[in-house]
Amino acid sequence: MCGIYGYIGKLDAYDEVFKGLKLLQYRGYDSCGIAYYDNGIKTIKAVGPLNNLKKPKILCNLAFGHTRWATNGEVNLFNTHPHSSFDNKFFVVHNGIINNASELKNTILKDVPFSSQTDTEVVVNLLSVLKGDIDERVKSLFNYLTGSYALIIGYDDTIYVLKKFSPINILKNDKGIYISSDIASLESGELCQLKDYSIFKIKDNDIINLSDVKADFVPYVNDIEKLNLGNFSHFMQKEIYETPAAIRSTYNNIKNINFYDCVKNIKKITLVGCGTAYHSCLIGCELFKELGYEVDCVLASNLIVNGRVGRNHLHIIVSQSGETADCIKIAEQIKKQRGKILVITNEPKSTITKFANKIITTKANKEIAVASTKTYSCQVFTFAYFCHKLKDANYHLDIETFEKNLKDYISNIDISTLAEMLKNKDKMIMIAKDIDYLTILEASLKIREIDYVYTLPMYSGELKHGTLSLVDSDSIVLSLNTDNDKSKLNNAINEIESRGGSVVKMENYILAENIDNFYKTIYSIIPFQLLSYEIAIKKQLNPDMPRNLAKSVTVE
Ligand code: AGP
Repeated sequence: MCGIYGYIGKLDAYDEVFKGLKLLQYRGYDSCGIAYYDNGIKTIKAVGPLNNLKKPKILCNLAFGHTRWATNGEVNLFNTHPHSSFDNKFFVVHNGIINNASELKNTILKDVPFSSQTDTEVVVNLLSVLKGDIDERVKSLFNYLTGSYALIIGYDDTIYVLKKFSPINILKNDKGIYISSDIASLESGELCQLKDYSIFKIKDNDIINLSDVKADFVPYVNDIEKLNLGNFSHFMQKEIYETPAAIRSTYNNIKNINFYDCVKNIKKITLVGCGTAYHSCLIGCELFKELGYEVDCVLASNLIVNGRVGRNHLHIIVSQSGETADCIKIAEQIKKQRGKILVITNEPKSTITKFANKIITTKANKEIAVASTKTYSCQVFTFAYFCHKLKDANYHLDIETFEKNLKDYISNIDISTLAEMLKNKDKMIMIAKDIDYLTILEASLKIREIDYVYTLPMYSGELKHGTLSLVDSDSIVLSLNTDNDKSKLNNAINEIESRGGSVVKMENYILAENIDNFYKTIYSIIPFQLLSYEIAIKKQLNPDMPRNLAKSVTVE
C-alpha cells in the first residue's frame, strides 16, 4: 500500500511532491512525510493526512515523499516515512514489505541504532553500513533485501529508484522528472514503467539506468480527470452519481469484444477477486451458471493453485486497481502453470495486466474514494453484458436509454430519512435470498467499511437456525427482496417482528420497474451505497477515507 512520489526539476519540488501525494492518498493516509534538498536532505512529517504537513519556507528542486498505510509499526511520527539512516546520510520512502528486516537487524545491522519499528529503516541503515561506492551499495540492495519493494532513496542531491515486485514509474517532461507509484498521478510525458530489479539514478536532468534491466520511455498522455469534486461534497458521493456515465463508457469500450472468443474451448471458469471485486465475481458466477457454464468463484486470498491448470480452464480475475497483492500472487501462479487469465480491471496499465492473456477494461474513470461504488457497478455490468452476448450474439443494448434510466433512478433515491433513523445503530442484520443475497454481501461491506457498523448479511432462511437469538426489540434488520414474489421473505420478517425487531424493506427504495434480470443488481446496490454514504455524513465520518483502510491493498 502506501504512495510514493518524487520530483527533480525546475519547479518547486516540495509543491510538486505534495500535489502528487494528494493523488496517492487513497493508498494510505495514516501519516505522511516529504524529504527535500536544501543543502542536504531534510524531512518534514505529520501523523494523519497531507494537510497536516507544514511546508518549509524554502524553494527546492528535489523532493520525494510518502503517504503511509501502516503495516509494520503503529501510526506515529517515528514510523512515518521518509526514514533516514542513523548517520543521516541516506533517506528512503518505501512501498512494499522487506521480509527479512528482523534478520538483518539481528545480523549485519546488530550494532546500529534504530528509531522506528518499520521494516523500511533497514534499507538506509544498510546503505550506511556498507562500504564503497554509493552506486555499488545501492545496486547491492537486491542481494540483501527480500520481499517486495519500490524505493526512492535520497543521498545528497541524488535520487535512486529501485523496483522489486511493487510498482513504480518514472516520467520526464519539460517540467522535470517525476517518480510515482501510480501512473494515474503522473502528468503527460515520456513514461517508463519500471520492470523488476530496475535501478535508476537521477541527478539534475539525467536519468541513468544502473541495472541490466531494459527500460523503455514511451509517450504517455494522462487523460484521467484529476481530483475534482465539482458540486459534490465527497468523492464517494460523486462516484456513486457517476455510475451511469461510467457504465456507458465501459459499454463503449467493451461493445465490440468478441466475448464468445474469450470462452472458446473453455470448460471451466473460475472467478477471482477480493472485497467488492469478489462480490461482483459472485454476481458474474450466477450469470455464467445460468448459461450452463461450469463456474466457481474464489477469494484471491483463499485460492490455492495446485499443479497444472488445464488448458480449458479460464481464470477471470477482477481487480479495480490491478494492484491487489492477493490477486497478483494468484495471477503469477496461474501464469507459471500456463493457465489462461482474463483480467477485468479499471487500470489497464496496472501490474496484474502483465499476467493476462486478455484484458477487459472497465472505463469508470479514476475512483478516489476508498469504497468501491461505480467500479463495482461497471464490473457487474461487464459480466452482465458478457453473458448477454454469450446467450445471444445479436444482443443489442440501447445504452442511451440504459444510461438515462439509471441516472433518473439514482437522482430520485431519497435515503436521508432512513440514514437519520439508522445513524446511531451499531449493529445491523441484513437478510435476502438468491441473487439479492449477493447484493447484501456488498451492501453490508459498504456499511461496515464506511460507517463502522457491525453488519451481518445472511440468507433469510438461515435466521431461525441460530442467528434469531440475536434479535430483540433493539434490533434493526434490512431486508432485500427484488423478486416478483413479494412474500419470499415473509417468514423471516415475521420471526423478527414477533421478537420486537424492526425490519426495513430496502426494495421500497428501488423505484425502478422492468429491469433486465442481468442488470438488476446494479439497481439494487445503489440505495445501499447511498445509505452508507449518508450514515457516514450524519455520523460526521469522512466517507472517502475510512479508518485503517486504503484503496489499493498491495500487501498480502
Ligand atoms: C471495497 O469498497 C474496498 N475498496 C475493497 O474491498 C476492494 O474492493 C478490494 O480491496 C479489492 O480491490 P481491487 O478491486 O482494487 O482489487
